[in-house]
Amino acid sequence: MKAIVCDHWGEPEEVLQLRDVPDRAAGRGEVRVRMIASPINPADLLMVRGQYGRQPSLPATPGFEGVGVVESGSGLLARRVMGRRVAVLNSGDGNWKEYVVLPARQAVPVPNELTDEQAATFFVNPASALAMTRYVLQVPPGAWLLQTAAGSTLGRMMIRLGKHHGFRTLNVVRRREQVDELMRLGGTAVVATNEESLPERVRELTEGEGVSFALDAVGGDTGSQAVGALGRGGKMLVYGTLSGEPLRVDPRTLMVGQKRIEGFWLSEWVRAQKPWTMLLLFRRIGKLMRAGVLVSDTSKSFPLSEIRTAVREAALPGRQGKVLLRIGD
Ligand SMILES: NC(=O)c1ccc[n+]([C@@H]2O[C@H](COP(=O)([O-])OP(=O)(O)OC[C@H]3O[C@@H](n4cnc5c(N)ncnc54)[C@H](OP(=O)(O)O)[C@@H]3O)[C@@H](O)[C@H]2O)c1
Repeated sequence: MKAIVCDHWGEPEEVLQLRDVPDRAAGRGEVRVRMIASPINPADLLMVRGQYGRQPSLPATPGFEGVGVVESGSGLLARRVMGRRVAVLNSGDGNWKEYVVLPARQAVPVPNELTDEQAATFFVNPASALAMTRYVLQVPPGAWLLQTAAGSTLGRMMIRLGKHHGFRTLNVVRRREQVDELMRLGGTAVVATNEESLPERVRELTEGEGVSFALDAVGGDTGSQAVGALGRGGKMLVYGTLSGEPLRVDPRTLMVGQKRIEGFWLSEWVRAQKPWTMLLLFRRIGKLMRAGVLVSDTSKSFPLSEIRTAVREAALPGRQGKVLLRIGD
């Protein structure tokens, strides 16, 4: 079968190759899935560059999520999903190939109403958005949640979640062009750091109180200003490293008002959950996707044979929506 493979870590455009690789049958408790589509997420690109939190061994195939149809399998769980369209939650050898074999519990049936494009992005961003706001921070209605990289796919989900659950979002972007669009989406306020002072806008919007909750995926200056925006008892989750720059934190900022900064990583959060919590989470995601809250836009899609164009497109600044890999027919 065809697969995208990298033999060493480096720039995705240079190191990814389409190759023939051996196929294998599903073992006990596993399913074999015919892949339909898989998005290119920032985590996939980080992994190919050798900068992800946990690197697989080489040669490796990227692709943490995607959608496909279960064609064979063995065991009770496998029989329950046989022939069904599933979200493929891959934590090991990736999804950018024609057939994927993985534990049956990592193949989650998706609602029929979802398109393949939506189903391909069923897990990583929707689960992170829900886990961070509903489970970890438990943002109550009326509270301010500041988020950086607010124009990202996950940031847009957060804005719609705020509207849905009644919390206020203070959205930080790096380009003025995104302001009106994110306001129309339901953001309570949008601050473009290329022409406004974030600390000033935070003071103005929160009447000097600061925000109770913050999410940072950028780090560097923007992430450091997000720490400074926290009010008394405020809590910030760090979940991305988009700028590649460290956070600078004045210890007094955290000490006075007893504020906290915590890391969030979906794969570790998932490992700590009970199967029942995960079942509920999948149900919630399905419901909120059907309601248009946890949906992703697709900017472009490419076949596996155009992987280098696809990863170049996925890394472009200002891109709107996910780049998808179309797999098989
Ligand atoms: N920790 C976890 O478990 C977890 C789970 C899911 C996602 N994430 C992280 O969440 C983030 C968003 O993911 P996504 O799939 O929603 O991304 P996405 O749709 O690909 O969007 C990327 C966004 O990042 C912005 N960006 C890139 N570099 C930036 C910089 N230096 N400063 C400010 N903004 C920058 C882009 O802004 P422009 O539009 O201006 O180019 C764009 O809005 C990523 O960092 C991803 O790794 C983490």
